[in-house]
Amino acid sequence: MARKKLIAGNWKMNGLLADGIDLTKGVAAEVKAMGKPECEFLVCPPFTLLTSVKRALRGAKVALGAQDAHFAEKGAHTGDISPVMLKEIGCQYVILGHSERRADHGETDELVNKKAVAAHECGLKTVICIGETLEQRDAGKTIDVCSKQILGSVPDSATAADTVIAYEPVWAIGTGKTPTAADVEEVHAAVRKVLAKKLGKGNANKMRILYGGSVKPGNAKEFLSLPDVDGALIGGASLKVADFIGIAKNAGC
Ligand code: 13P
Repeated sequence: MARKKLIAGNWKMNGLLADGIDLTKGVAAEVKAMGKPECEFLVCPPFTLLTSVKRALRGAKVALGAQDAHFAEKGAHTGDISPVMLKEIGCQYVILGHSERRADHGETDELVNKKAVAAHECGLKTVICIGETLEQRDAGKTIDVCSKQILGSVPDSATAADTVIAYEPVWAIGTGKTPTAADVEEVHAAVRKVLAKKLGKGNANKMRILYGGSVKPGNAKEFLSLPDVDGALIGGASLKVADFIGIAKNAGC
């Protein structure tokens, strides 16, 4: 089953205008220079940069995504942004349920699910994040935790066309630590099985499952050549053109 790899940058709360535009132009130029890359590219800047990044991406085969969205279309939700607002300014994707949102804002599987339904309804694709903490891993609960997050966070109506999963072990994010390749493949294969039960085999076989957590040019090949790893969700290394593109190139894009 051929799944096109997705190389996605999550800039998190980083980037003022000038730096964000430099980074975007650098990524756009490198992706253009690749001609017809084997992979798809996605950048997810903070809300404040979305419109400017969209403009700077013009003509480049790099999709634009946001890092969160509310489930409501509009209304009294101070500080929130709705999916339809993101769609209007040219976003194609939105990351939902990142472990930093689950930790910093108490987001639950139920909430992530509601957000995903709303995002899909207005035509946004979602990158739904899951992953265990170090305590959960040490207790041998990784697969259980990830399965539960998939069952709870992914809408029953999700399809391979509108949903991407990102497996990001919490303890591997921003730490330079990573699971072994065998561990990553084990989780991804287990996640695909849960997806098959939930959404049917057709969707599960086509749905992309990204790995995230300290992905660098130096480990990209090891992770992205695994059979059930369909790309990467990259934090720190997505803030440098050479690292982001280096990951893609080493992954065979
Ligand atoms: P790092 O690549 O900085 O570890 O972050 C991963 C991540 O959280 C991407 O969403």
